[in-house]
Amino acid sequence: MTKTLIAYFSRTGENFVQGTIKGLEVGNTEIVARKIQEFTGGDLFKIDPVVPYDDDYDICSNQARQDFQNQARPEFKNPPATLKEYDTIYLLFPNYWNTMPMHVWTFLERYDFSNKTIKPLVTHMGSRFGTAEIDIANVCKGARVLKGLAVLGDLANDSDAKIKSWVELN
Ligand SMILES: Cc1cc2nc3c(=O)[nH]c(=O)nc-3n(C[C@H](O)[C@H](O)[C@H](O)COP(=O)(O)O)c2cc1C
Repeated sequence: MTKTLIAYFSRTGENFVQGTIKGLEVGNTEIVARKIQEFTGGDLFKIDPVVPYDDDYDICSNQARQDFQNQARPEFKNPPATLKEYDTIYLLFPNYWNTMPMHVWTFLERYDFSNKTIKPLVTHMGSRFGTAEIDIANVCKGARVLKGLAVLGDLANDSDAKIKSWVELN
């Protein structure tokens, strides 16, 4: 069993691009997830909210802050019954409020990650992982959580070499 999963959360719609709000058709984290899929040949799974955050940046920001403050565990679409067949899981997400979007917490709490390897990657606007690496280790007891990679959201398209060399590390 040496199957790889690339599980990621990413949002389209308005976001800051080099300091200005723009509408994105593909989110920063999804750009990176696709590259990792190319490099590893793993399976992609989008942690896709049942109730998506708004396309409007300010509304989304408030919705996500409320979910964080309430410690919500919002649902995502088509949850796999099990992750038993995977031994390596790339976990990709944007930094939201200094940690992971709450849907990613839902994902992590749903499955048994013991004896699996987790490789976390965050895209961000300056805060890198915030508390997310510690949070992942706390939630996924028994998993081997490898050193993560932080990619500036604006550089998602221009970080191939950095991403590839991190993918090759164990
Ligand atoms: C609701 C929300 C909260 C955010 N909070 C932070 C933060 O605390 N620190 C940070 O560096 N970036 C923060 N960002 C910026 C995102 O992490 C960054 O733009 C990321 O690349 C977006 O990924 P995506 O396009 O895949 O959704 C936030 C963005 C949103 C929408």
